[in-house]
Amino acid sequence: MSASAQLPRRCWVEIDLAALERNLKHIRATLPPHIKYVAVVKADAYGHGLPQVAARLMQAGADLFAVANIAEAMTIRELSGDWPVLLLSPVLPDEDRYLAEFDLAATVSSLDEVRRFDAVGRAAGSPIAVHLKIDTGMGRLGVWHTQAKELYSAIKAANGLRLAGVFTHFSSADEDPVFTAEQRRLFLATLAGFPGLDSAGLYIHADNSAGLETTPGESVFNAVRVGLLQFGILPHPHSMLARVKAEPVFSFHTRVGLVKQLPAGTSVSYGRTVKLKRDTRVAVLTAGYGDGIARVSGNRAQVLINGQRCPVLGRITMDQTMVDVTDVTGAVACGDTAVLVGRQGGTEISVTEFSDWSDTIPWETLCSVTKRVPRHYRNASGV
Ligand SMILES: Cc1ncc(COP(=O)(O)O)c(C=O)c1O
Repeated sequence: MSASAQLPRRCWVEIDLAALERNLKHIRATLPPHIKYVAVVKADAYGHGLPQVAARLMQAGADLFAVANIAEAMTIRELSGDWPVLLLSPVLPDEDRYLAEFDLAATVSSLDEVRRFDAVGRAAGSPIAVHLKIDTGMGRLGVWHTQAKELYSAIKAANGLRLAGVFTHFSSADEDPVFTAEQRRLFLATLAGFPGLDSAGLYIHADNSAGLETTPGESVFNAVRVGLLQFGILPHPHSMLARVKAEPVFSFHTRVGLVKQLPAGTSVSYGRTVKLKRDTRVAVLTAGYGDGIARVSGNRAQVLINGQRCPVLGRITMDQTMVDVTDVTGAVACGDTAVLVGRQGGTEISVTEFSDWSDTIPWETLCSVTKRVPRHYRNASGV
């Protein structure tokens, strides 16, 4: 452990690994037993810490890990030499050799990728696993669905490749069920046109967290690809996935560094965007945008102190944030904990609420906590 890891906490994240494990089990319990679970753990497991999250999800029985890049895949390989790993982002030509070296599955969207990865597999004497991605309306990776049959045949004909999965990605599963249904229909129609496709032994996947809301019961997809929900966050506030009872895994904390009294009429923080309407007790917190509190949330966000909501005063600064504690009952003193996201007493600020104040979405909030903020792991072994 580094010397700085032993210092008192000023701003930190807590990750509850037992909640993560329970979430996976709850999600699984809502799905037919044959459905495989692809755990999306890109971007450092949505900022939760990839090694810790992947290790716990292995224990919980995730079937496959989906990551963005080779570096993330190598982190999984340090935990397990053979746990299936899928790269969701394009592989660059100078990265091709790592597919064989680390036994990684690649996403394939083009004939160029088929040729490149086939050459790697043949040179290695062991086929490269690939998941054929079909673009049904995301407009990002994947072969456009009308051209998918040709690419499927090219993969099947390539001795250096092994088809391990076929998938698509929904562009608006959290806001447009009609378009999502159309994407499902196109995906199924495309699969039906693949000669000799036998889904046994393949991962056929489409559903992200929001997709799970509209999965038809008789779905032929045999895998789901879940990110946000496994971290206990609903893809939108009115989500039917509340039935899954996923619990938050992430919480975000800081401390009170100073408490002082300011007279009515005083302005607070850079730019003087707020002028106090009354004599005010102000707490200065030891975290700012240098830690991941979005600057745009100044004069909008709230924090919890003594289990009570305290409004942010003025602009967020790099290392400090001012809040109004005038109405907080009980003493507020230097060193007290303030909760930015999470529960204190009977009150809770969710990632979604914090994201709304920051004009963003939970996915981005989780990726925006900076590297100076240490992650502390609770319930590191066993539930
Ligand atoms: C290709 C792909 N699949 C699945 C997911 C997981 O989505 P969610 O976090 O909404 O479950 C993502 C997330 O960005 C993704 O890019």
